[in-house]
Amino acid sequence: MKILVTGGLGYIGSHVVVELQEQGYEVLIIDNLSNTSLNVLDKITAITTIPPVFEKVDVRDKESLATFFTKHTDIKGIIHFAASKAVGESVENPLLYYENNINALVYMLQNIQDQETSFIFSSSCTVYGQADELPVTENAPIQPAESPYGNTKQIGEEIIRDTCKVTPHLNAIALRYFNPIGAHKSAKIGELPLGIPQNLVPYITQTAIGLREQLSVYGNDYPTRDGTAVRDYIHVVDLAKAHVAALSRLIEKKGTENFEVFNVGTGTGSTVLEVITAFEKATGKPLNYKIVGRRAGDVVEAYAQTDKAHQVLGWKSTYSLKEALASSWKWEQAVRGK
Ligand code: WQD
Repeated sequence: MKILVTGGLGYIGSHVVVELQEQGYEVLIIDNLSNTSLNVLDKITAITTIPPVFEKVDVRDKESLATFFTKHTDIKGIIHFAASKAVGESVENPLLYYENNINALVYMLQNIQDQETSFIFSSSCTVYGQADELPVTENAPIQPAESPYGNTKQIGEEIIRDTCKVTPHLNAIALRYFNPIGAHKSAKIGELPLGIPQNLVPYITQTAIGLREQLSVYGNDYPTRDGTAVRDYIHVVDLAKAHVAALSRLIEKKGTENFEVFNVGTGTGSTVLEVITAFEKATGKPLNYKIVGRRAGDVVEAYAQTDKAHQVLGWKSTYSLKEALASSWKWEQAVRGK
């Protein structure tokens, strides 16, 4: 069964391709290589021994996307990762985000109107903003987005919801990711942020390996157990497996309705200082950090209520924070040849 993974050479996409291939799916990848490189294809092949079919396609290009879909009429499922995802960049360049994350989604859906298709959308816990109740459930109110990036995820879900209402043969699931971290155990694929990492864990590993001088901890005056902000850090392989579970639900058409939403997290919150301590324990590397002021746009606390994914998808996370951080460190060392 042929599954299209858009953005399949990216951090999460590449890990999902590996899991899909290991489950026997035939995988087709399109990617515009704007935030990754072609050698990820070789790395995936080195892990699974199955070279995925790849075509360089920019999902913002309506014509080339239509051409692609006329060539490939036997795609049974689509997992749509191709999007921009840097919160700060989205504030500076909103139109880049609305074009890449919204236009592209519309073009994608326009091409699959006529055939039975399963569609998985990368959504994000940012749609909740600062939830009033924690752990946050899928029914928590959607708060006004704090960034254009978060807004594109909220709008994306609504576009899919509205399309599914009038397209009975489109079965879709939105997966609301919490904080993906870690890397495949082979250390052949992982997160490779271009430039200065925005996210906590790549900044930690780059500090530990000597690429960065010191980690800045954004605020320790939050109303949390140690004053630093709380997030739900999930191993990217656990996250990838959630996509396989969601896909099989869609393909088997077990959904009670043709658009469903699931949180994908561990259900456990960790503070920034707890992540630092866990990293030091996992690697034996003391981390050089300092406390600075809060970062604009950060929520105090976010961690998932994961019962729905467990009961409905039969999925739950398996890796501990320490294991995930150890895999991030192993990946960082591999990338830097250390
Ligand atoms: C985590 C915590 C920071 C960097 C983002 C996106 C979200 C999703 C996951 C895509 C926060 C603190 C960070 C640093 C720090 N991405 N921090 N020093 O902001 O929770 O979520 O990534 O789907 O959409 O918003 O992740 O890793 O940036 O921050 O103290 O150098 O670490 O303040 O408390 P975030 P993050």
